[in-house]
Amino acid sequence: MEIAILSRRRDLYSTHRLVEAATQRGHHADVIDTLRCYMNITSARPTIHYKGSELKHYDAVIPRIGASITFYGAAVVRQLEMMGVFCVNDSIAITRARDKLRSLQLLSKKGIGMPITGFAHSPDVIPDLIKMAGGVPLLIKFLEGTQGVGVVLVESSKAARSVIEAFLGLKVNIMVQEYIKESAGADVRCFVVGNKVVAAMKRQAKSPEEFRSNLHRGGVATSVEITEEERTMAIRATQIIGLSVAGIDIVRSNRGPLIIEVNASPGLEGIEKATGADVAGSIISFIEESMKSDEGRPGSKGKG
Ligand SMILES: Nc1ncnc2c1ncn2[C@@H]1O[C@H](COP(=O)(O)OP(=O)(O)O)[C@@H](O)[C@H]1O
Ligand SMILES: [Mg+2]
Repeated sequence: MEIAILSRRRDLYSTHRLVEAATQRGHHADVIDTLRCYMNITSARPTIHYKGSELKHYDAVIPRIGASITFYGAAVVRQLEMMGVFCVNDSIAITRARDKLRSLQLLSKKGIGMPITGFAHSPDVIPDLIKMAGGVPLLIKFLEGTQGVGVVLVESSKAARSVIEAFLGLKVNIMVQEYIKESAGADVRCFVVGNKVVAAMKRQAKSPEEFRSNLHRGGVATSVEITEEERTMAIRATQIIGLSVAGIDIVRSNRGPLIIEVNASPGLEGIEKATGADVAGSIISFIEESMKSDEGRPGSKGKG
């Protein structure tokens, strides 16, 4: 197969592992810089151009769309869908996952457990919003934050009121969320490929003063056994958002596992190193299986 990996940088661990896994399985993989793709959306035959010429035909694409380029990245993936290329994650699902509020709304509608979460526009409702989220301590999160930046823990009502007011005043989209204290600075990342959790790691914040377990914030990853409930939750969440490859983040609370986030381009480095699992290989195998069952149905993944 000819596989394209949409990624800004070929030297990233995730990117080169995907190339390596594809090559090992007898395929050919190219790394295509998402932001250097350009497209003619008006022609009868949709195309993508890259570095001065038309992009060659690929059987499958693995989108690795960083948070800061979601809009353009989703447009490139959409164009590939229109061209009938099999995209591991489709553009609509990538866009859904990027917005924390939107994905939590979709998950809650299907009964997936999550911390109590509120969203508001008017500053008048702030006291009630704080009460709704169970009072302090609580978390304030940017809807499009990532790597732990834009997640604020506030411990007094006074601080909560002024921080929420400040963000609303700056027209930053935020949500207010119950803080799950008993998770003690840890969460569980389930890496889902197709309808399987292929690896899971526990991430622990680097110190007792830090509540965010993000590896970019110095969190430490170890392999972890997940419960059946967590496994089912991760697979269902992936399906509800419409992804095939996802990193599902779960906090362990006194009332069971709760979802905090769905990532459409989860990193491979932390999880492969912590668990020893061949996650890149699982993604390539998933493409092989999907292409087999998709044979003769060109463009069947494209949803426009
Ligand atoms: N409701 C919560 N209760 C306790 N800890 C949380 C909660 N939400 C997030 N965290 C911690 O903060 C980290 C970052 O939050 P997250 O919503 O995943 O933002 P980001 O998209 O920036 O990673 C999580 O990995 C987790 O360790
Ligand atoms: Mg996160």
